[in-house]
Amino acid sequence: MHLDDEHATAAAASRLGAALRAGDLVVLSGPLGAGKTAFVRHLARSLGVPGDVPVTSPTFALAQDYPEATPVLVHADLYRLLPEGAPPDLAGLAELGLREARSGAALVVEWGEAFADALGGATLRLTIAFPRDGAPAGKDARAREVEGGGERGVQLAAAVAGPART
Ligand SMILES: Nc1ncnc2c1ncn2[C@@H]1O[C@H](COP(=O)(O)OP(=O)(O)OP(=O)(O)O)[C@@H](O)[C@H]1O
Ligand SMILES: [Mg+2]
Repeated sequence: MHLDDEHATAAAASRLGAALRAGDLVVLSGPLGAGKTAFVRHLARSLGVPGDVPVTSPTFALAQDYPEATPVLVHADLYRLLPEGAPPDLAGLAELGLREARSGAALVVEWGEAFADALGGATLRLTIAFPRDGAPAGKDARAREVEGGGERGVQLAAAVAGPART
């Protein structure tokens, strides 16, 4: 799937937002600067987080709660729990309390692939990437892949994809 620009990313995020429930875990992957945090910002707005509440990368705190959202949104960026040449920092993960938060919130996690099992399993995996050479692309174009596990994951994947273009 192709995202022509950030508006397309915002639209996809809103479609996910309309389907998201507490208990869902969305693992967001993709290279540095691809637009994972931008996706979460648009998602947060669609869930009711007001525009004056900044939605930025939680690189220092690693996780940020948005109680203004419905469902409550928890956004984490676990990049710092992935030390180079060492295994993923599962003890650091446990300290964040994300597993416990999951039942009452939708969790959206950047750099979370290595932690998905410890968090109870991903509902949806969403990858945002830069288009491959040759793809129709402007500087803001991104490619997107979704993969949902289980019935719930398939539902969410369909929601993100949206109605087929005619
Ligand atoms: N189609 C698009 N989708 C998402 N973001 C886009 C798009 N086009 C341009 N951008 C811009 O690209 C930048 C992506 O930065 P962002 O912080 O979201 O990346 P990230 O994937 O979270 O990186 P990191 O791995 O460092 O956390 C933002 O400035 C955003 O405005
Ligand atoms: Mg980010």
